[in-house]
Amino acid sequence: MAQAQRTPVTATVPNDLEPFWLPFTANRAFKRRPRLIAGAKDMHYITPEGRKLIDGSAGLWCTNAGHNRDPIVAAIQAQAAELDFAPTFQFAHPKAFELAARVASLAPGDLDHVFFCNSGSEAVDTALKIALAFHKVRGEGSRVRLIGRERGYHGVGFGGVAVGGIVSNRKQFGTLLVGVDHLPSTYNREKQAFSIGEPEWGAHLADELDRLVALHDASTIAAVIVEPMSGSSGVLPPPKGYLERLRAICDEHGILLIFDEVITGYGRLGYAFAAERYGVQPDMITFAKGVTSGSVPMGGVVVRKGVYDAFMQGPEHVIELFHGYTYSAHPLACAAGLATLDLYRAEGLFERARKLEKPWADAAMGLKGLPNVLDIRAVGLTAGIDLASKPDGVGKRGLEALELGFFEHDAMFRAVGDTIALSPPLIVTESQIGELFGKVAKIIKAVA
Ligand SMILES: Cc1ncc(COP(=O)(O)O)c(C=O)c1O
Repeated sequence: MAQAQRTPVTATVPNDLEPFWLPFTANRAFKRRPRLIAGAKDMHYITPEGRKLIDGSAGLWCTNAGHNRDPIVAAIQAQAAELDFAPTFQFAHPKAFELAARVASLAPGDLDHVFFCNSGSEAVDTALKIALAFHKVRGEGSRVRLIGRERGYHGVGFGGVAVGGIVSNRKQFGTLLVGVDHLPSTYNREKQAFSIGEPEWGAHLADELDRLVALHDASTIAAVIVEPMSGSSGVLPPPKGYLERLRAICDEHGILLIFDEVITGYGRLGYAFAAERYGVQPDMITFAKGVTSGSVPMGGVVVRKGVYDAFMQGPEHVIELFHGYTYSAHPLACAAGLATLDLYRAEGLFERARKLEKPWADAAMGLKGLPNVLDIRAVGLTAGIDLASKPDGVGKRGLEALELGFFEHDAMFRAVGDTIALSPPLIVTESQIGELFGKVAKIIKAVA
């Protein structure tokens, strides 16, 4: 294995911040006081001035193995020198097959074929397209409806936004996809506040799928897509028994069930996939983020054998699925993915997350009673802390907390509106868990 070559952090603050339009960012506020990151190692980010920040969010829920880990860096460097790019339309390179086999081996049951893309959003659109095409190739082309869930986040493609359920992500973009319906959100503060793990209340909300079937008829419904645990809308674990019920209703009506595991994949909930944690096998799993520990963009969809086989009919010279991306299974991403999966296995990081779940949840619940804390949820190595909004604007307290964390407390985390979302790299130690929640407690008091 090649050694990673390291360069010191040399970045300086750019003179002109204007040309870069930052995604999902309040640009004018950011550019007045930019939060710049120049380097990273293991559990920490490093600012251009050399300040070390504890990473409480694994970047964007993705650097599960920690930052700039040597084996991943070395694999990317070696791959860049050997094969920069190879098309995967009608050609391929060996590491694509190797990684597909590794990803499939981590998925439960007969989820055994992998379609690669470059992000979670592309993975979702790919899964939705496969669902529609699957029914079409089997002669059930009337199954065109897609069902998502309120408060769901499935990325930013038109398909993902359409099945998603976050109003601010939807309202600027017209009619999105037609023929989409939504299950209700499983979150209810009155019934679930301060639950550790999966709440007791809410499994019956899966029965709303029966209502949608009665309304639209099963013969028009292609697929249901849900995040087993919604991360981006503030850490919403599934009620006990909810996913099992969704599976049963889908089975009864021939509807495909897609788990969007872009966040829950690769150890976030203590298992390779949440499907394993919950003992529920979907027909497709979308993944991204943790597959390369965020080091190179990559995403994909794992599909069950029966789904893949349905396409493998007809003349052999004909393309079975007219879909793909120039960078599907990019060599750098495949090399990074293989090194990342090796590291997860070598360091037992999924098991580590499972062991840390209790001290993590206890530390999170320790914030109960602080000013403005309305609810705390913790599952796997994630936590969502809802703060009351300020009277003069939703999201202001959250942004203040984020800024204070970055500038004064050397801590980085996500703020989703007024919810602080935490999801550290899985290499976090118990003392770093204490450090992180200690900082968050101080910040919550400071923004009271
Ligand atoms: C469940 C889920 N699906 C899809 C996405 C979109 O992924 P990306 O930002 O890589 O497109 C995300 C991103 O957080 C996600 O949480």
